Amino acid sequence: MTPLRAVKGMHDLLPADIHRWQDLESRFRATVQRYGFGEIRTPIVEPTQLFVRSIGASTDIVEKEMYSFHDKADKSLTLRPEGTASCVRAFLEHRMSGQQPTQRWYYLGPMYRRERPAKGRYRQFFQAGVEVFGDPGPYVDAEIVEMLVGFLEQVGVPNVSVAINSLGSGTTRERYRHALLEYLTPHREALSADSQRRLESNALRVLDSKAPQDQDIVREAPRISEYLEPDDAEHFRQFSECLVALDIPFVVEPRLVRGLDYYSRTLFEVRSDSDGLGAQNAICGGGRYDGLVETLGGPSTPAIGFALGIERVLMASRSAVAPQTADAFIISAQPELRTEALLVATELRNAGLHALADLRGTSVKSQMRRADKSGAGFAVILGTDERDRGVVQVKQLEDQGQQHEVPRHALATHLASKARM
Ligand code: HAM
Repeated sequence: MTPLRAVKGMHDLLPADIHRWQDLESRFRATVQRYGFGEIRTPIVEPTQLFVRSIGASTDIVEKEMYSFHDKADKSLTLRPEGTASCVRAFLEHRMSGQQPTQRWYYLGPMYRRERPAKGRYRQFFQAGVEVFGDPGPYVDAEIVEMLVGFLEQVGVPNVSVAINSLGSGTTRERYRHALLEYLTPHREALSADSQRRLESNALRVLDSKAPQDQDIVREAPRISEYLEPDDAEHFRQFSECLVALDIPFVVEPRLVRGLDYYSRTLFEVRSDSDGLGAQNAICGGGRYDGLVETLGGPSTPAIGFALGIERVLMASRSAVAPQTADAFIISAQPELRTEALLVATELRNAGLHALADLRGTSVKSQMRRADKSGAGFAVILGTDERDRGVVQVKQLEDQGQQHEVPRHALATHLASKARM
């Protein structure tokens, strides 16, 4: 029989590796909570139309990468490829616009895109993201970029660089699309097949193409900054100025468009040149999507957000996180003392300590070996003689530590005082 394996591009996260994830997640929660964000958890499966209508029918994600299927009632459902569309759906479904003038949400969770797996590019990957509804910016735009950069520094991502651009709004996009079409059409034959197709459906996507033959052509393309309406240009100027005031270094990339159609005005991408990352050096992307709530049937609501790829942040990060180790490993000198060992372990756990025990009834030598390997601070040894005298032996496991007797009733307090040292 062929062995069963995880789906290509999807990975198990084993207990030995999880502490870095948990550390990153708890730092993310702590950071965003300081900025007033509350957590939202949306379903992993959504109606396919949600993504088609928000991300855009002619994007790579919708055209090629979604895990879509029909359920037993013949409804087309999709494993979410990103979190923004689901947040907007929830925002509308729960009539949030009628509640607070602004909403600040954050989320953590798996996303699914059927991309070609590579280092840093997976088919199931995890994002941590935020969305702000109801604030037209540009100050909140700078606020979330500042929060993001501060977070990445805190978790040890080296050489973070921020690229920004503005896609303008309404008429800007339309005028720019025309200019782009005018420039690209004479080069049509030289473009990749994907870009030729997109020329009509979504010319801006051509700027995002990774095909080398497209990139040479795109390099000379007109810049959107030359087409910004005065209020879009002013928005972008204030956003940039605010980043300067907050001391956040950035570069303006006039051809940054990113792969989702819902963006308008502010757009940003954060990269790191950490050795840990391969070609996939974009660790976070975000931007404004002022028209999306309306597109999906709600009232006009400005919004902005970002999402970072947790795997990529962990690959880029240089900070090591020590796994949590136990305070005590309980050893029963005789197999009949296993209930006693369990009682002692329970007592210590109830006192808030981290206690381990090997309850299989193996030899003391083998239990000691496991205690040493576990990284626990102390071994607590129970023997019949000690039980009768109401004491236990406590042995420090590191540095050839000493062993001494502790009254059984004082064990938890004794270990707790050592754990605090
Ligand atoms: P995105 O740029 O598609 O934006 O994804 C954000 C981040 O997710 C990327 O910068 C990358 O770190 C990570 N990522 C994307 N695809 C993969 C993959 N296949 N494997 C590993 N990591 C990946 C969004 O998803 C938008 N929803 C962000 C946003 C929120 N914009 C406004 N609000």
